Amino acid sequence: MAKEKILVIGASGQIGVELTLALRKIYGNANVVASDLREENPLLQGTGPYVSLDVMNKEMLHVQVIRQGITQIYLLAAILSATGEKNPALAWHLNMQSLLNVLDIAKEEKMSKVYWPSSIAVFGPTSPNQNCPQKTIIEPTTVYGISKYAGEFWCNYYFHKYGIDVRSIRYPGLISYKSAPGGGTTDYAVEIYLEALESKKYQCFLKEDTYLPMMYMPDAIRATIELMEAPASDISIRTSYNLSGMSFSPKEIAEEIKKHIPDFAISYKPDYRQDIANSWPQSIDDTVAQKDWGWKPEFDLALMTKDMIDNLKE
Ligand code: NAD
Ligand code: SER
Repeated sequence: MAKEKILVIGASGQIGVELTLALRKIYGNANVVASDLREENPLLQGTGPYVSLDVMNKEMLHVQVIRQGITQIYLLAAILSATGEKNPALAWHLNMQSLLNVLDIAKEEKMSKVYWPSSIAVFGPTSPNQNCPQKTIIEPTTVYGISKYAGEFWCNYYFHKYGIDVRSIRYPGLISYKSAPGGGTTDYAVEIYLEALESKKYQCFLKEDTYLPMMYMPDAIRATIELMEAPASDISIRTSYNLSGMSFSPKEIAEEIKKHIPDFAISYKPDYRQDIANSWPQSIDDTVAQKDWGWKPEFDLALMTKDMIDNLKE
């Protein structure tokens, strides 16, 4: 088997830090090059190579790919749902052009694989609200969701037209303690733990009964690696796979936190992010991912809460 050399773009972000560290464990530190527009995340420092890189500068990206002998790219740079609604033109430009730059270079350099995440944000108010299936009505109402849905079809196009082995997951909202989230509607489910430990109170920007699909980061990292390591013949979806972990509301996560911090109090002050959350399904059907590459989540709300609190206390 040819030796793989991986470039992670957006490595200092919420997913990037943990994915880079996980890939380094599998492929070796020197074979996973972390890159980002912003400075190297402290958790990555000293664990492997880092380059400062703007994915929008296609020439420089191409130079780095050739110079470092890159065979696979994990593209994580994006503007997420809440930040995207504040600057729709920028979100569209970054989310689309970054993907097209990477897919073009992957084609020219005959890369072995590309990974690019999509999101539950592809779904809209007309999609089924419960157990939203892989194939269904998809009419997103956020610029982030529109960019993800268009991106899914670019991935599909490059696979069918040029044979690029590009793979993708529609992540639910991701919860983690290592690296801060970057401007999503589901970020409340990270903030709530930090505030619970710091001040024993949290004002939530979503209503108490807003159910959303969520996943703990260790499950998301494992799903990504399992998808990328699956034989190409098992991959039946070349747009993006539905993925499910758990589904809960702000009220339910607060109740779970209270089991560990009894005097924790939550209050609610919904803002513009409520409309975004209302447009997404409450739960996701990931039967196709289960069947194709054996996906099975490990963490539920109780297990995640215990792990989050134990780790944040440290
Ligand atoms: P994030 O905002 O935490 O990280 C993105 C990183 O990309 C940041 O470190 C940022 O500095 C970097 N970046 C931005 N512009 C760049 C540029 N021009 N060149 C190079 N780097 C640039 O985001 P994340 O939560 O880690 O998300 C990663 C991917 O996963 C995104 O595509 C996102 O849409 C997707 N996703 C995330 C979630 C979630 O809950 N975190 C859910 C669904 C999908
Ligand atoms: N967590 C992401 C967001 O809220 C979903 O893609 O934007």
